Amino acid sequence: MQRAVKKLHIETYGCQMNVADSEVVASILSPYYKITDSLRDADLVLLNTCSVRDHAEQRIRKRLHELASLKKKNKSLVIGLLGCMAERIKEQLLEEEKVLNFIAGPDAYRSLPKLIEEADSEIISFNVHLSDVETYDDIEPVRYNSNGVSAYISIMRGCNNYCTYCVVPYTRGRERSRDSKTIFDEAELLFEKGYKEVTLLGQNVNSYCWKSGDTKIDFADLTELIAQISPLLRVRFATSHPKDISDKLLYVMAKYPNICKYIHLPVQSGSNKMLKRMNRVYTREYYLERIKKIKKILPECAISTDIIVGFCGETEQDHQDTLSLMREVDYEYAFMFKYSVREGTKAAEKFENDIPEELKIKRLEEIIALQQHLSLESNKRDVGKTFEVLIEGVSKRSDRHFFGRNSQNKVCVFPKMNCKIGEYLTVEITKCTAGTLISEL
Ligand code: 5AD
Ligand code: SF4
Repeated sequence: MQRAVKKLHIETYGCQMNVADSEVVASILSPYYKITDSLRDADLVLLNTCSVRDHAEQRIRKRLHELASLKKKNKSLVIGLLGCMAERIKEQLLEEEKVLNFIAGPDAYRSLPKLIEEADSEIISFNVHLSDVETYDDIEPVRYNSNGVSAYISIMRGCNNYCTYCVVPYTRGRERSRDSKTIFDEAELLFEKGYKEVTLLGQNVNSYCWKSGDTKIDFADLTELIAQISPLLRVRFATSHPKDISDKLLYVMAKYPNICKYIHLPVQSGSNKMLKRMNRVYTREYYLERIKKIKKILPECAISTDIIVGFCGETEQDHQDTLSLMREVDYEYAFMFKYSVREGTKAAEKFENDIPEELKIKRLEEIIALQQHLSLESNKRDVGKTFEVLIEGVSKRSDRHFFGRNSQNKVCVFPKMNCKIGEYLTVEITKCTAGTLISEL
């Protein structure tokens, strides 16, 4: 491919993994393209997509129709679709969405220069090959959208869990861990460049495992290694599967103040019957035992979760079990979803999607209302406490205020004073809402 500096516009949908992937894509294309925020300036537009819920895919289809009208005005514009949706719908997408020049699945980003070159010659091309080994571990991501303070580091790819509702194992392939040395080097380099927080990312970080000669590095070992880079570098991670969250990790978290006291532990449902149907391989009782252990070893730790309502066969009692589990855990935060059928998954093939839409909406509203209450109560308990926050940027509501997060991942807003973005500051909380801690001092 010729080295001419053209302009690239990337839009990223879905999870944090996709944000990290877009940074890898920006790096692979950096010899040929400069990133632009402006869609109108772009020679190449890439949509990095998500298939996890139907809603996400609908939004992306809508965006493609908007891009089609832009392409009518600018015939030389090249448009590519990346990520999970490319993997899930493959050639069918090229047929349906005539606006696309090429598609590339999550393991095909190294072939992007070639795909783009072929697109220039008007051949519609695609690469959706899934790999058992690709981790992009030698690529230094380009942090094109960064605040210069916090960065994501992808430590593994894929998922082997096959929860029955989930399309991820089919779109992102088998689970594979990245070489720990390259993860360490990437974190160290970020710290040298002035970053103060890294988030280690994977679909299931607790099953991270890297073998080198006789040594085996698991997720707790990796987290400890990264925490030792500097006490001034915060370490976060996501996402943890309840089946794999080990006591060893909890003790490592307790040992290092710079490992943030926040765990995202998706439960999905509070009912054993639903958990079994979802193939989550744990029970309500096991999950609650893990929560008890977290609270014992890390009394300051905040816990958040993912919940699906309206999964196949969910009765009122199953729904009540979810509500009671939410109360029992007393989550700081939750991401809550209505079940949507994903083609190709076990649930789509074996179970009937039998909960009417109105009932799904009603149950979703009930869990959202409960979580809103739990979040507000949790924040009220923080009023009067002091926290160390890492300053991330200017508050969206007021340019006289900064925002940052405390170790528990709660957003704090406070007056700018003489501080700078990227510094640590200790603030006393004076007020709160369900979503924000406020310091007036
Ligand atoms: N329907 C609704 N929510 C889903 N999730 C995954 N698949 C589905 C689906 N088919 C949710 C789960 C998961 C989060 C990333 O998305 O809660 O943890
Ligand atoms: Fe999907 Fe389950 Fe894997 Fe999460 S752990 S990505 S919900 S299959």
